[in-house]
Parts: sequence; C-alpha cells; structure tokens
Amino acid sequence: RLTALIAASVGKDGYRHYMEKELHEHPVVIGQTLQRLIDPATRRVVMPELPFDLAAIPRAVVTACGSAFYAGMIGRYWIEQYARLPVDIDVASEMRYRNPPLAQGGLGLLISQSGETADTLAALRGMRAVGQHIVSVLNVEQSTMARESDAVLGTVAGPEISVASTKAFTAQLSVLACLTIALARARGLMDGAMEEAMVTALLDLPSKATEVFERHDEIRRMATIVAEARDVLYLGRGAMFPVALEGALKLKEITYIHAEAYAAGEMKHGPISLIDSSVPVVATVPSGPLFDKTLSNLQEARARGGRLLVFTDMEGAPRLREIAECVVAIPTVDEFVAPILQTIPVQILAYEVALLKGTDVDQPRNLAKSVTVE
Ligand code: AGP
Repeated sequence: RLTALIAASVGKDGYRHYMEKELHEHPVVIGQTLQRLIDPATRRVVMPELPFDLAAIPRAVVTACGSAFYAGMIGRYWIEQYARLPVDIDVASEMRYRNPPLAQGGLGLLISQSGETADTLAALRGMRAVGQHIVSVLNVEQSTMARESDAVLGTVAGPEISVASTKAFTAQLSVLACLTIALARARGLMDGAMEEAMVTALLDLPSKATEVFERHDEIRRMATIVAEARDVLYLGRGAMFPVALEGALKLKEITYIHAEAYAAGEMKHGPISLIDSSVPVVATVPSGPLFDKTLSNLQEARARGGRLLVFTDMEGAPRLREIAECVVAIPTVDEFVAPILQTIPVQILAYEVALLKGTDVDQPRNLAKSVTVE
C-alpha cells in the first residue's frame, strides 16, 4: 500500500514503466550517491562518523537477499582485493541459520533497498548478538534495519517502485566501492595516488552510464533472440560473475524465462552439456586480466552451437565480434568500476525482453517489492 501511495506520487515521467524510468535514473543515482561519500575538492572518500575504528576490523561478513546479495558479492570481491580483508558471505536466509563463528568486533555488512527484508533483518540481529559492528547499506533510511544498525550508508536512489531492482543496485555498488577505499586506506593499503585514480574512475561513471543508452538498439536486437529462448545461460568471471547472476535474476523475474548464471570457468564442469543452438549464452566480458580466459570459454560454447550474446567494452569488442552473434560494447572503464557500468546494459536487456514477452514489467507475477516475511 505504501508503495502504491509512493508510486502515485512519484509518477512515470512519461516512461512506459517505472522500471524504464528507474533504468534511466542510473547515471543520476550513481552521481548522487557518490556525492554523499566523496569530497569533490579533495577527491577523497569521506565516510560518515562510524562508532568504531575501521582499521581495527579483523574480518567482515556480508549478507543480503536477491539483487542486493549480488551487489554484496561484488563488494566482497573489492574488499578482499583492495583492502585485503577476509570476507565471509552468504544469502541472508542461509546466514541466519548457519550461525557461522564470527570474529569478535568484526564488521557485519548488510545490504537492502527496503531495509525491511525479513531474512536480512534476522541475519542483522544474529550478527549483532555475536558482537559484530553492524553497517547497513540502505535506500530507505527510515527503516527497521536502519534503526537496528550501528551505522547506515545510504544509497541516494530515491523511491524504487518497480519490483525488479535496478537503480538501487548501482547505488549499492557505488557505496560499496567507497567503503572499499575507506577500508583500504584505514588498513594502510591505499596511497593518495591510488585513491585519486579510483575516485576519478567513480566520478566519471555518471557520464559513462549515460553513454550506455546509446547502445539501446543493439540491446533490443539481442532481446529478440533471448525472447525466443526457453533457457538462457549467463556467464561472467571475477566481479562479472555477480553481474551475470544479476542479469539472470532480472530476466527470470520479469520475463519468466528460465536463466542460470555460472562462473565462466565452471562451464566445463557440467553446464556446457546444456549448450546447443536453442540456448543463448549471454556473457559480460569487459577488457581486463580475465578477458582472454573468458573468451576461450565462449569459444568452447560456440564450438557446440551456442549463440553468443556478449556485453563488453570498446577495447574488447573487436575480438568478440569474431565469434559472437551480438556484441554490445559500452565505454571502457577502469577494471575497478567495470561491474557497476556493465550492470546497466544487462538490466536493460531484461527490460527489452519483457516488453517483447508482454509481461507485467513493474509487478511481475508472484513477486513483492519487499519480502517482509520468511
Ligand atoms: C530484485 O530485482 C528483487 N526484486 C529481489 O531480489 C530483491 O533484491 C530482494 O528481495 C532484496 O530486497 P531488499 O534489497 O529490499 O532487501
């Protein structure tokens, strides 16, 4: 009911669906969220007052549900890579019952658009009970999770009406990227020059995100192939694996087409038996250290008749055009921020397929915007 009231007040601004409107808000939302955590004068990350010392954190544990969990997976990748802090991670519905042994004074990092998701809230309470410092990344800052956290890092995404989360996802990643930098700096692993480079890559994102929409026609063409499929395989490596998971979830929830995401390196351990010309393979393969490895996974899939639909960047496009049926190339950005930018076209693809399928984009069957019950 609250969502309906907000929806009535928010309106679609001439877009066909709230999801279409919220997809187009990615650039603004990324910019607004970063503005709250980066000092434009010093171009350094400025964390809000935290009731504990980031430098003293021995380990972290990350938990969330659905798309928020996939954002957490990318956050974990960054925190381990740049801040060298060990991170345990699990979906909240598992974490709350797993009761893992957590280090006293560890960081409990929870991610939620609504701040009301029952499993995530239960996991928060469990972590607090064993002495974790609770930091929640939230879009609705007056929420139950906000009231029960030691600190809230807000995503400045505005109300997200469509059941399928889009703009909140890149806002969550923007917060997690800044938290990574703050953790790395607190742990003496981030010098001024490195921080300046990473902050610059983040601050360039809103304009790069706007350029993504210039590829809309190519994404529509890709959607005509996906819309005909019964099963779709999404592949990604490293921080792109959670992007593949997010793309597969978006497709499932708004088009009802079965989609599975795999770490690309896992193909040969089973999933490759799925491949034939009836199963499109959607892959997120920006240029970078994992490009060649992922390219060879795609060559294996193509050799078995797989139809390759690939998201990459300008640098990776030429070699992928040799093997893929569709290639959508968005701007090349630093490896650090590539997962944020690569998420946008993957979400647009799901939206374009849903238009072709004629499903209820904003209110897909069986789904609620916030799962406040177990
Ligand atoms: C995302 O498209 C889904 N609607 C769903 O997975 C959602 O991300 C999940 O239920 C978590 O919701 P929250 O962020 O409000 O906690």
